Amino acid sequence: MSSKQHKKPEKWWETGIIYQIFPRTFADANGDGSGDIQGIIQKLDYLNDGDINSENSLHVDAIWLSPINKSPMYDNGYDVSDYYDVDPIFGTLEDFEILIAKAHQRGIKVILDLVINHTSEKHPWFIESSSSKTNPKRDWYHWRDPNSDGGEPNNWLSYFGGTAWTLCKTTQQFYYHTFAKQQPDLNWRNAEVKQAIHDIIRFWLDKGIDGFRLDASSVYSKDRDYRDNPLKFGAEDTSDFESQHHLYDKDLPENHQIISEIRAIINEYDERVLIGETFIDSGLYQSVIFYGANQDELHLPFTFEFPFSPWYPGHLQQEIVKKELMTPRDAWAIYFLDNHDIPRHLSRWIECSLCDNPVGIAKAAATILLTVRGTPVLYYGQEIGMVDHENIPLEKMRDRVAIENEGESASRDGARTPMQWDKSINAGFSLGKDVDPWLPINKNYTEVNIAQEFQDRDSILNFYKDLIRVRKKSEALRQGSWKTLINYPYEHLAYVRETETEKVLIVINFSYEKKLTVDEYIESEHWLVLLSTHYEAKKIMDLPQTLQPFETSIFRKN
Ligand code: GLC
Repeated sequence: MSSKQHKKPEKWWETGIIYQIFPRTFADANGDGSGDIQGIIQKLDYLNDGDINSENSLHVDAIWLSPINKSPMYDNGYDVSDYYDVDPIFGTLEDFEILIAKAHQRGIKVILDLVINHTSEKHPWFIESSSSKTNPKRDWYHWRDPNSDGGEPNNWLSYFGGTAWTLCKTTQQFYYHTFAKQQPDLNWRNAEVKQAIHDIIRFWLDKGIDGFRLDASSVYSKDRDYRDNPLKFGAEDTSDFESQHHLYDKDLPENHQIISEIRAIINEYDERVLIGETFIDSGLYQSVIFYGANQDELHLPFTFEFPFSPWYPGHLQQEIVKKELMTPRDAWAIYFLDNHDIPRHLSRWIECSLCDNPVGIAKAAATILLTVRGTPVLYYGQEIGMVDHENIPLEKMRDRVAIENEGESASRDGARTPMQWDKSINAGFSLGKDVDPWLPINKNYTEVNIAQEFQDRDSILNFYKDLIRVRKKSEALRQGSWKTLINYPYEHLAYVRETETEKVLIVINFSYEKKLTVDEYIESEHWLVLLSTHYEAKKIMDLPQTLQPFETSIFRKN
């Protein structure tokens, strides 16, 4: 299967690499145990020092920061109480301005998370709105009378389970929340709400940020008449979000209107990107419509194909092929392995045949992510093979929203622990030697850390660095078509990225020694090794007959 005729990607968000930072645990400059903006500034050279030949940098093109706005932190920033300010935990607005300037000096773009489906219950808008039925901001949220027997207005459920309605004692009406009751949903049908959010968007764009990641962007709109959702056939636990068809509480036609109006603002500025989290329970099929009929919604809609795939070549390839087929001709795909809501991939894929070889999985997974046709997004720590912290005691867990609503096992803290910079106290994350980091450091930090991996030529970090450099120097890897060379992969993947001037072959062996099966299209040519777990870079060779155990190689047709 090969890619259809696509436009040539040229924008920075199409050819570049995005790196997600969870600011609370990336780098703590003021030594209080929590990561902050000054910490990120201090680490910019690690991310990209602006000199492509420098060995000390990862060379990513953009950073996406999980929310830094003022927040009571019930959902760790995904509950905003002031959109115009930075939370003091992270620093000040001035710190953020310095970050933008210093990032831009190095060629790093800055993307902010924008949480506008809901606010915090502590946002002044909600405090006003809930104060009386006649408050001018009453209609800024979804308020409904109890039904005839005094219960919830309809059967809508919170994503975390149970009813999505909470009764306000003062006014005896219920308000609606897709997530926790501390996160009331804004009413996007209200023109003032729309205007207020548009102002916020302009404020940050005027500050010079390079784009947004829209949080929960498929649930902005709700049915005007608040009709009950139909139950799924045979649904047993009717308090489970999955028990309903979400016909009336998400992804309504109006949702696309809302996003296209935001996109119109983005378009007023030069070269800004609009990324969105289109997933709540929808897969790729529903998500592609978020590009918009005229490419007038999201530039890059996040879908969860790699996070939901088992570590199995056939499955991963099927997901790539589907995305190749379904991404509209003028649109561009985005891929990721990890984020702040899911277990890290080395923890997810531990059950596979390679589980005795996490370094092999990490290098193979990195290669897939950075060589498929789409924008790759890295999650901090992935580049050194960080795994989930699995033994965080309950009293040290921080993901209150998940724990209080769904129980301890739902905690996302394991994937949010501090970045492991070196083997010194607190893994070099926090300069405060006596301080307890916000989340405990994973015990493996003495071996798995950036300083150590810089020294080790075969480390995951050095592999990522080499891979990123290879990608940056290869037009085919950034812009070329994608074609698989194996129809039903069982133990290995083999595919080609190609432009008019360059042809690059990627082979990834998921298993033990294996004959390399690729069709005649490829066999007799000479190849230059761009990067390999088994051959020296720059070597010119015939295509190997067999793949070595867990071999990952990238060749350019010579
Ligand atoms: C998104 C965020 C997640 C948050 C939720 C509610 O899914 O990624 O972290 O809990 O929205 O804002």
